[in-house]
Amino acid sequence: MAAHHHLLPLLLLLIPFASAAATGGEAHVSAVIADKGLTFAKDVLIGEAVRSLTPLRLPGAEKAVRVPFLGGIRVAVSNITLFHLDVGEDSAIRPGDSALVIVASGISANISMAWSYSYDSWYFPIEISDSGTASILVQGMEVGITMEIKNYNGSLALSVSKCGCYVKDLVISLDGGASWFYQGFINAFEDHIRAAVEKVIPENIIEGTSKLDLLLRSLPRSVNLDNVTALNMTFVNDPQYGNSSIEFDIDGLFTSAVARTSNFQKNPQLSLSCGGASKMLLLSLDEAVFNSALEVYFKAGSMHWVVDKVPDQSLLNTASWKFIIPRLYWSYPNDAMVLNISTASSPIMRIMSDKIDATINADMIVDVLHGTETVPVACISIVVSASGVVKTSGNIVYGSVELDNFSLAMKWSEIGNFHMSLIQGVIRVFLNTVCMPYLNSRLGHGFILPVVRGFTLKDVYVVASTQQLTLCSDITFTNASSLASLQIL
Ligand SMILES: *[C@@H]1O[C@H](CO)[C@@H](O)[C@H](O)[C@H]1NC(C)=O
Ligand SMILES: *[C@@H]1O[C@H](CO)[C@@H](O)[C@H](O)[C@H]1NC(C)=O
Ligand SMILES: *[C@@H]1O[C@H](CO)[C@@H](O)[C@H](O)[C@H]1NC(C)=O
Ligand SMILES: *[C@@H]1O[C@H](CO)[C@@H](O)[C@H](O)[C@H]1NC(C)=O
Ligand SMILES: *[C@@H]1O[C@H](CO)[C@@H](O)[C@H](O)[C@H]1NC(C)=O
Ligand SMILES: *[C@@H]1O[C@H](CO)[C@@H](O)[C@H](O)[C@H]1NC(C)=O
Ligand SMILES: *[C@@H]1O[C@H](CO)[C@@H](O)[C@H](O)[C@H]1NC(C)=O
Ligand SMILES: *[C@@H]1O[C@H](CO)[C@@H](O)[C@H](O)[C@H]1NC(C)=O
Ligand SMILES: *[C@@H]1O[C@H](CO)[C@@H](O)[C@H](O)[C@H]1NC(C)=O
Repeated sequence: MAAHHHLLPLLLLLIPFASAAATGGEAHVSAVIADKGLTFAKDVLIGEAVRSLTPLRLPGAEKAVRVPFLGGIRVAVSNITLFHLDVGEDSAIRPGDSALVIVASGISANISMAWSYSYDSWYFPIEISDSGTASILVQGMEVGITMEIKNYNGSLALSVSKCGCYVKDLVISLDGGASWFYQGFINAFEDHIRAAVEKVIPENIIEGTSKLDLLLRSLPRSVNLDNVTALNMTFVNDPQYGNSSIEFDIDGLFTSAVARTSNFQKNPQLSLSCGGASKMLLLSLDEAVFNSALEVYFKAGSMHWVVDKVPDQSLLNTASWKFIIPRLYWSYPNDAMVLNISTASSPIMRIMSDKIDATINADMIVDVLHGTETVPVACISIVVSASGVVKTSGNIVYGSVELDNFSLAMKWSEIGNFHMSLIQGVIRVFLNTVCMPYLNSRLGHGFILPVVRGFTLKDVYVVASTQQLTLCSDITFTNASSLASLQIL
């Protein structure tokens, strides 16, 4: 079983953001596993993967030897089981020119086996036999794997182009029977065991990798975030290998996205930085990702808001407007009002190195509750400019916004024309005391960065640069048993 978690966790870390052939598409999400991340991958993943190889059954063998005076001797070893592997400190994972090279050296292994021996000779009329068990200690074992990760029709395809295993030392100790006597015969199996180990380990790694390859190729091209949005997980390029990092590029737009920034030139991301800090994982998201999400929500019609409570509730009564909009009061004296706000177009976000701007274009319909009727009396177009920041706490990313400025325009009115400057002050208070706190309460919940079970993001922080947010994070490995469940195909 199972070298398949070799790279799987490493890649699955990215899946929430990513998954497939359409080369020529545009990448809006890039994930870079940096130097420190590869070291982490090495420490955790090589160990996990190598351990997952055990127990490994090796083929038994039998030898017939003719010994002077004694006659024909049959010696057999069976039930050879490699049950424990220990990876030393000097293993490495590094990007090559177009592949990932994984070298695990200083591995030691424990193998158990049963041995038996029998002979019949003309000296003794009966067959004499003996048997026992033996433990084998393999030391200085080295495993090297060259793994190619390519873009195949928009998915990641994984293949092992080279895999070798080398056994340096092997010590067989017999227990039971007349062990001292047979040690010499059993040692004759050393070459057999060495060859079996050197053959079976690469075979299992290649088999595990092809299972992982099938799994990667069967990953969905889009991942639903909720019933409105789905993320396009198509991989758009081959992974790019840096000197000590790997980058995966993903389409990353929310489906039904339209607004693609035309002047955006995708730069090679391997130069991505976390403001000097060294982090394991760098995830960059174009502003187009956020804009596509906003657009999908807008088109799905989920940007409506009916306001019937404000801090100064008297403002939602026509009596308060007696002197400012006299016709409103004359037509509907002392009636309650509600504000029916909906976005008129998809909000637009712009990411800059020092701040994030958003422009929200909304229509506010003023409804009067007259008896049992809801009467729309006016519609005011509000364009709001807000600026925001993105923060992190653990693996939760959240934001906050504040009002910069806004402009008002009358769209239509059943209560006569009134000048926008008359309501400017009230609207400012309304935006600051109702709208912004409302937006902030939603943004403040944040969203949890999805990661593979068993891993936790640690010390996440966000760096903004032109048209792009980069999340920088370390990863910790918390649960090996949940990792094992990834094997299920
Ligand atoms: C997903 O992205 C790929 C590559 O950019 C593109 O060819 C494909 O049409 C996209 N799929 C959807 C559903 O938008
Ligand atoms: C094979 O070896 C394992 C562990 O070394 C042992 O549990 C098992 O009973 C053995 N099987 C036979 C048939 O000897
Ligand atoms: C493997 O063999 C070594 C040396 O005989 C021994 O110290 C170690 O405990 C063994 N490990 C296991 C898991 O049996
Ligand atoms: C490429 O991916 C598309 C979309 O998932 C699929 O319909 C098509 O069959 C794939 N082509 C090949 C050659 O696998
Ligand atoms: C999505 O789900 C929410 C609640 O789970 C529901 O209120 C909403 O109507 C759903 N939207 C669509 C488009 O199905
Ligand atoms: C990679 O290493 C080579 C030689 O060591 C160096 O010339 C090159 O600038 C490095 N590239 C990056 C992206 O660091
Ligand atoms: C709010 O206005 C929209 C049209 O912009 C309308 O479809 C909806 O029914 C109104 N809702 C309320 C509660 O008035
Ligand atoms: C807010 O001010 C900026 C700069 O003065 C201007 O570009 C922008 O159009 C204004 N926004 C609104 C909604 O008036
Ligand atoms: C590890 O994962 C397994 C399986 O998902 C779960 O049963 C177990 O409770 C987890 N342990 C911890 C410490 O989270």
